[in-house]
Order: sequence, then structure tokens, then C-alpha cells
Amino acid sequence: MCGIVGYIGNKRAYPVLIKGLSRLEYRGYDSAGVALLADSEHLNIYKRKGKVQDLVDFIGENNTQGNIGIGHTRWATHGEPNDVNAHPHFSSDGNIALVHNGIIENYAILKKELINRGHIFKSETDTEVLIHLIEEIQHNTHTSLEEAVRLALNEVVGAYAIVILSKNEPDKLIAAKKSSPLVIGLGENEYYIASDATPIVEYTKNVVYLEDEQIAIINKDHGFRIINIANKEVNPYVQELEMQLEALEKGGYEHFMLKEIYEQPRAIHDSFRGRLNAKEGWVSLGGVKPYIKEIANADRIVIIACGTSWHAALVAEYYFEDLARIPVEVEYASEFRYRNPIIRKGDVVIAISQSGETADTLAALKMAKENGAFLFGIVNVVGSSISRITDSGSYTHAGPEIGVASTKAFTTQVTLLAMMAMMLGKERNTIAPKRFQKLLDEMEALPDKIETLLESNDYIETIAAQYKDATNALYLGRGTAFPIALEGALKLKEISYIHAEGYPAAEMKHGPIALIDENMPVFVIATEGENYEKVVSNIQEVKARKGKIIAIVTKGDTEVKAIADHTISIPSTDEVLVPILATIPFQLLSYHIAVMRGCNVDQPRNLAKSVTVE
Ligand code: G6P
Repeated sequence: MCGIVGYIGNKRAYPVLIKGLSRLEYRGYDSAGVALLADSEHLNIYKRKGKVQDLVDFIGENNTQGNIGIGHTRWATHGEPNDVNAHPHFSSDGNIALVHNGIIENYAILKKELINRGHIFKSETDTEVLIHLIEEIQHNTHTSLEEAVRLALNEVVGAYAIVILSKNEPDKLIAAKKSSPLVIGLGENEYYIASDATPIVEYTKNVVYLEDEQIAIINKDHGFRIINIANKEVNPYVQELEMQLEALEKGGYEHFMLKEIYEQPRAIHDSFRGRLNAKEGWVSLGGVKPYIKEIANADRIVIIACGTSWHAALVAEYYFEDLARIPVEVEYASEFRYRNPIIRKGDVVIAISQSGETADTLAALKMAKENGAFLFGIVNVVGSSISRITDSGSYTHAGPEIGVASTKAFTTQVTLLAMMAMMLGKERNTIAPKRFQKLLDEMEALPDKIETLLESNDYIETIAAQYKDATNALYLGRGTAFPIALEGALKLKEISYIHAEGYPAAEMKHGPIALIDENMPVFVIATEGENYEKVVSNIQEVKARKGKIIAIVTKGDTEVKAIADHTISIPSTDEVLVPILATIPFQLLSYHIAVMRGCNVDQPRNLAKSVTVE
């Protein structure tokens, strides 16, 4: 979390930084700040609690001159979100400023030492320690800024992406990273630095992703060079961005979340384009193909993820077991890494992550790698850390997802996992040819079916209006619909702040049924298939206690329609693909409820999209 930007070149830095921070605001929006080097005499630092717009309003007509600057948008870890704890932080003499994404774990001990040497701290942050440490080193050794940064980073334990500027060396920016991401955009005698490529893409497509423990020394006239913290020169690897600028704009929608919900037909099509062909009867993921034997013969597959991606993992558990008959374990990355798990050679560990930067998922992968597992990544953000440390992987191709609540990233993850399970099933001969073909046909038909489903948006909005004042909600599903119940509940609670729980429908009677009364909306997935009749019974149990039923049913359903308060129809498809369709009405319901409650849909309170702290 936290987004950082930097600019050095011939343009005015301020507008570039502000625009960049707005693009990175999904990473945190507790406070924002910039530091601008007007000349070697004037370093202007402005910071403010709140969003980037609050910062802009606060700065108003103040001096924002300068061609070199850094900026930050914060998701608070150490220290409450206020003006003082906002970044940039600066040295005692006010000459050096720094923005930081990550956590300095040994900050307390370093702080104590620095206080003993006379440093005075203004904030409660871990970050401020780093800038004082750099100042102390420069003061003692009279060395260059980059050398002081390098020496300081050798003393630091934790995660960092940093950008630093100094009044004393006003021709350069220093950037460095470990665990938290950092990208450098290369323009003509100008450089852009950011936590991801979104602030850079409108200026240049040539980028360098810094690797862990690398330091970039960037000078507008003399170019840039990279060293590592052991002081070895590193050859930069320049890559070309494929991202399109339009993908980062709202494109006429009121919110990114709504735009991203509506993008799902296209996103899902992109995720299977060139990877399957129903007419020719094949599915092939480039990242799986060379390792198909290894994965198909795995002793077991362990899937690790967090948040919404963890729900995709739960769906995949059914896929891999049902279609490919491979044992699967699904783990929260944060739990997995801290409980001394048994990982062996022969295990395949799949990480699912939209951002490819989630700290817990990344750390769990590193641990699995050390234990000899084969690592596979299912990631959306191209070039992200998870995509780089895994042995192989497949991108979901959902395109940039800006809304903090995940929508198209989830449905494309599930699409990809279904394709992977089909490939493995074929390889292992565990999937009947007829079923395989049906799945291919249904997969290709998904984008059109989603288009049809999205036509119910106005109707879904009328249902949302009736439940917008609920204080609790229950989501129920069986089989692959159980993770969709969890995902539905998560969507509602994260953007509308209504308490919601997802449960396997049959588990309702072991507790949640006690909560049901006439004020409790119960959202149920009751689509055709093996579990249908059982779910109908669960609906009856809710109705008997006067609960309100909002059911997702298959088009043409009559039985549930007769007993539910509301039904939302989805097109008929293979049971394997129901999770993809059934999740969309829940996204829309949550969206409309949140809008009606006046919530900030794209930036819900306390959340951030990319969780780069543990
Ligand atoms: C945050 C986001 C969620 C996301 C989760 C995991 O909590 O708000 O939308 O599902 O992180 O992120 P990842 O990028 O690893 O999928």
C-alpha cells in the first residue's frame, strides 16, 4: 500500500506528481503530500491528511515551481493518518526529503540510536527514521546522497520502495526498492518514478522495473544508473508497457467499479482469447504447457491468496478436484506462511493475485520456493513481483482494475483457473471428452451471456433500493456457489459497510439461522444443477423464519420464483461456469446499495487495493 511518485526533467513536476498520485490513490488515501525542489535554495514540502484533492486544495496558490519532485499517497501503518505523519518526511536540517512505501521493521531500535545522537522526530512513522539515518550517515561520512542511501539501506530490516531528493544535490533523484514495487519510466531527458506503471504510461512506454535491493541514481542530464546495495553496477532491463491510457479513465461511467463490472464480457474474452478454441476442441495456456507433466503429476496443489483472490482459489479447489482429480489445499497466504507448513518437492503452489504485489502472498511464495515447490502465478498486473518470482504463470488480462473492490479481476481469475483445470483434466484423462467440449462451448459463450445478464442492471438497482438500509445480510451457496456467497458478502461489506456473512447453505442451521428475522436479507444462489433441491429447502427454512430471500436463479426457473421475495435470473450454463455469472448480480447489488448509502464506492474507508504490508 501507499503510492509513491517522482519526477525529474524539464517539465513542471507538480502537475505530473498530482496526476500520478491520483492514479495511485487506489493504494491508499489516508493522506497525500509532495516535495518540490524549486532550486538549490528552496525545497517546498506540502502534506495533508485526506485525499489528493484535499492536498491540492490545501496547496492552492502556494509555490509549486520546480522540475524535480516526489509525492506520496498513504495507507497508514505506523501512526494515525494526520498531517504530521503524512509523507514526504524530511531530515532535521530540512534539506533531504523522502517518500516511502513499506515498513521499516527495526525502526524502533534505529530511532532510539538516532535520538541519542540528537535527532528530533516529528512524526510517529517508521519512515522518518530512514531519512534521519541517511542524514546522519551523510553528516558523518560527507559522502554522496546515493552512497548514504546505500549505507542506510544496509542497516534497514523490512520492506521499502523509496524516492529521495536533496537540496544539496539538486540534480538527482535516488530511488530504491525491496519487496515493495517501483517502476522507472524513461523519457527524453526526463524520468518518472512510480509504484506502478499507471502514472507513467501517458508519458512513455519504456520502463525499468527495479529489482529488490537495487538503487537507481537518476540525473536528468546524465541519465540513470543502477547499483545494488552491495555497490555492484547492474545493467537495467528496459521493457515496453502494453497498457493503454484509456484503460485508466472512467470512460463515461460514474465510478471505476461500475465500469469494471461492465468490462467483464471484454475482460473474460481477453482472458481466453488465443487460449482456447471450441471449434477445434482445445485449450492451452502458454504458461502451463511446458510444465503440464509437472503440474498434472503434482502430489497436491496448494493455492495461496488473499481477499477476493482467495475466493477464486476456493472455486478452483472444486475445479482441480472435480475436473483433474488432483488434491488441492487452499490457504490464506498470511496463515500459510506463519504456521510451519509442510511443503515438499512435488508440490505445486499456485498464487492468485490481482496486483501481484500482496506482501503475504509474495512472502508465502518465497517460503514455498525455498522448500522446493514449483511456483505458478495467476496475476493481473503485468511485470508485478509475483509474476517475476514464480516459475511460470498466466496473466488474467483483465486490464487495469482501479476500483478497490475487485470485480473483473475475480471473474477473469476464475475463467483462467477453469481453463487450467480443463487442461489438467485432459492431460490426466479425468474429464470426459463430451464434458470437455461442452465446457469449451460454454466458455466461448460467456461474454455474450454476461452482456445479457448486465441488461438486468436497472432491475437489480430496484432491489438494491429495498435493502439499502439493512444492517446485516447473509449470503448462502453450495458447492462452487459457496465461494460466491463469500465474495458477495465481502463486496457488500467492503463498499457499503453493511455487516455481511457468507455461509455454505447447509451450515446455516448451525448458527446463522438464529439471526434470521423479517429484517434480514438473505442472498442465495439457487441455480440449476445438483444442489438445486437442497438449496430450495434452505430457502424454505429462511422463509419459515420470515427472512427476505433474494435468489440468483437460472433463467426459466419457477420453483424458487414462487417462494423468494426477489429473483435475479442468469443465463443457463455449465455448472462449472456458474460462479462467473452468479457473482455479477452480487457486484451490481453491492454497487447500487453503496451508491444509495452515499459511500465512496471506488475508495472505501480504511481499505487499499494493493496490500504491500503484512
Ligand atoms: C486487497 C484488495 C482486494 C484484494 C486483496 C488481495 O484487500 O482490496 O480487492 O482481493 O487485497 O489482493 P491481490 O492483489 O493479491 O489479489
